[in-house]
Amino acid sequence: MVARPGWPHTEVMDMDARELMKELREDHRNMSVVLELLDTLVEQMDAGKDPDFELFDEIMRYMTVYPDAVHHPKEDVVYEQLRQARPDLAEDLDHVPDDHSDIAHLGSLLRDEVEAVNAGAAVRREKMIEDTTAYVRRMRKHILWEEEDLFKRIDKMLDADAQTVDVSRYEHIKDPVFELEIEAGFRRMIESLR
Ligand SMILES: [Fe+2]
Ligand SMILES: [Fe+2]
Repeated sequence: MVARPGWPHTEVMDMDARELMKELREDHRNMSVVLELLDTLVEQMDAGKDPDFELFDEIMRYMTVYPDAVHHPKEDVVYEQLRQARPDLAEDLDHVPDDHSDIAHLGSLLRDEVEAVNAGAAVRREKMIEDTTAYVRRMRKHILWEEEDLFKRIDKMLDADAQTVDVSRYEHIKDPVFELEIEAGFRRMIESLR
């Protein structure tokens, strides 16, 4: 994880697992907004224009430092609890950690491509369009599946017993863009989101 001034900013929260679910859903909303920014970059490349590669770079860096490094591990803990506490609700969940690592892998490949362009390398436009589109599609599919299926199972588990997931020692790591608005590493992203 890249250390940025003022981030990660963590605090131990006294909270309920339902609060954690609220956070995960909020993360999804934020990620969806970021995926829309990526859509715009794809449209520009499709139209033969050069996208804002610095913005592209910030987005891919954000995806690796927050969704991959904070959001997904948080979900993995909750899913593990679901498997252990409620195997009856945990059918077909074996692919989840794979999904998370596939997404992280696709994201880091794309980030490397963007970094290479920024360093002056020639990367084929079509390849960039293809990889970005595949990444966005994969991410959206994953979020949709979690919202429509997985999170509902977790809600069921928490409705039956809110203490199934112990979050008393859980550290809240703030989103560097949406919560903290750290200008240093994400200036263009924050401008684009305003
Ligand atoms: Fe996930
Ligand atoms: Fe998620």
